[in-house]
Amino acid sequence: MYCQVLGSAAGGGFPQWNCNCPNCDGLRRGSIRASARTQSSITVSDDRLNWVLINASPDVLQQIRNFPPLQPGRSLRDTGIRAIVLMDAQVDHTTGLFMLREHREPLQIWCTEPVREDLTRGNPIFNLLEHYCRVSWNSLPLRAEGFEIPGVAGLRFTALPLSSKAPPYSPHRDDPQPGDNVGLLITNARNDKRLFYAPGLGRMEPHVWQAMQQADCVLVDGTLWTEDEMIRLGASSKLSRDMGHLPQTGPGGMIEWLDQLPKPTRRVLIHINNTNRILDEDSEEREVLASHAIEVAYDGLCIEL
Ligand code: MLT
Ligand code: MN
Ligand code: ZN
Repeated sequence: MYCQVLGSAAGGGFPQWNCNCPNCDGLRRGSIRASARTQSSITVSDDRLNWVLINASPDVLQQIRNFPPLQPGRSLRDTGIRAIVLMDAQVDHTTGLFMLREHREPLQIWCTEPVREDLTRGNPIFNLLEHYCRVSWNSLPLRAEGFEIPGVAGLRFTALPLSSKAPPYSPHRDDPQPGDNVGLLITNARNDKRLFYAPGLGRMEPHVWQAMQQADCVLVDGTLWTEDEMIRLGASSKLSRDMGHLPQTGPGGMIEWLDQLPKPTRRVLIHINNTNRILDEDSEEREVLASHAIEVAYDGLCIEL
């Protein structure tokens, strides 16, 4: 299985257009060692020909240009993207669908019923796309036996409901539904190797922890370093967990959990907010991660399993 990280930043990207936090400002000035990152998306394939796009970032066009296998060039209009799986209905994971409107067939989209509802009501992208390529919706099952995606042989997917957050425009923002946010366990059917992917993980629950323990690599929520990072910076009034993201540090934080995984498990943080000091390769925070054998995803990282 090939997993290509297309975009490793949280919503806003890095640097964020209107942000002058030490990271964004430092990157623009060239005064810190860090690389720019586009918004949250990965793509997976078994044969490097047929790809599943996981999340459609507003940066998807740039991401496709940066990763040539997504444009195999076999005919006048072509793409290597066979299907799109959505983890939630957030702006950073769905607005790229607008950019794919020229597709010659309806977009094959896999998402849960609550996400479909948000994308036809709160943020009616699916309705709009009816005027372009249209959408063929496949219900993402939240069942242990998982599902297969036609045209993408060799990979099996299992979606897990996660405790995170529906977007602000969701008709049920304050009435969480199972399936507002999901994580994915992706299995290579040839060798049984597994990748666990969860860019938005607000709380560790037994079924999630079980899936993480089964994985050979976990690619998980790296949004914020501390619970009050955004408040301390004056950028927001919300705690990390209020936004549906488990912070890396503190009791019950992501580092504590990752420390308890089996030793050979590869641990990678993704969906990193531009304020998070781990983006600075010379930061103390980055050193702490290294001492726990935790990696920081970057655009262009390829994980082979
Ligand atoms: C989030 O995961 O909280 C998002 O990145 C929010 C957004 O895209 O606005
Ligand atoms: Mn996000
Ligand atoms: Zn910033």
